[in-house]
Amino acid sequence: MERVRRVLAVPEDYTVLFLQGGASLQFYMTALNILREGEKADYLVTGGWAQKALKEAARVGDASSIWGDSDSGFKSVPSDGDYSVRDDAVYLHYTSNNTLYGTQYHHLPDSAGKPRILDASSDIAGVPLDVGAHEIIYAGAQKNLGPSGVTLVILSPWAMSRVGENLPTMLDYNVHASKGSLFNTPNTFGVFVLDQVFKWLEENGGLEGSIARNRAKANLLYGELDRSDFWVPHAEMESRSGMNVTWRLANQDLEAVFLQEAEAAGLGGLKGHRSVGGIRASLYNGCPLESVVALVAFMQDFEIRNT
Ligand SMILES: Cc1ncc(COP(=O)(O)O)c(C=O)c1O
Repeated sequence: MERVRRVLAVPEDYTVLFLQGGASLQFYMTALNILREGEKADYLVTGGWAQKALKEAARVGDASSIWGDSDSGFKSVPSDGDYSVRDDAVYLHYTSNNTLYGTQYHHLPDSAGKPRILDASSDIAGVPLDVGAHEIIYAGAQKNLGPSGVTLVILSPWAMSRVGENLPTMLDYNVHASKGSLFNTPNTFGVFVLDQVFKWLEENGGLEGSIARNRAKANLLYGELDRSDFWVPHAEMESRSGMNVTWRLANQDLEAVFLQEAEAAGLGGLKGHRSVGGIRASLYNGCPLESVVALVAFMQDFEIRNT
């Protein structure tokens, strides 16, 4: 807990919880705790996870998409000015990194002064993060923080003060906060490993070190994608994710061969999500630079053999 606070520079008056149920439960829990019936919440719908977050919040109140990109294949995230937050919205929800499509915000989205709620599941502790600019941040641990089964939830005093009355016990932030995340049996192993990951982060340059390592990996891979028309990157340049890099082969018939040969060369898990197809390389905190070096070398060799 203290390491999480130190590495992420969590303000002292913020509450840090370790919950279960994944980020998927937080889609609902954030809205349930913060929104009252009939109240509005605005969502920036930049991918499949944001769609799911919106769907769950709409069970609680008037949750609406104020920006979406599904028609153009979720290739970008919005810039400030591309959307307007409703005057009477209670909060703005966004997803900092879109795991499936490989897009990411590289700025703090304008919320017109409204509280921000952030799903940071796929880039937390890998990119700059101004915790104090958010009222709730949640993240499943399984990508950048450790094993599956733990969800990190960070809540501001405002968020804690908004928690409604008579919520189902297990879905009530106040219950978990009052018991220090020990209301029911926690995922002790997951929390232990998460603490070890934060220890490692702290010993290896903290958040700044993590950001630098991730930038180096992403620059190397995007450099290769931009080098040759053999590759067709999915995301628009200014929305490119440093965590999940997605691309197609100009000759899509070669993609299956690429994946097969990559797997045989020890480069597994590169198949793109079915909604995008093609290739996806996830460069999470646990992925060393050497893996990206090996991938790029494989790609260059593959191109030579197939042109
Ligand atoms: C951005 C994002 N949000 C939410 C989820 C869902 O997380 P969980 O499996 O912890 O419910 C994921 C992925 O796994 C994700 O990448």
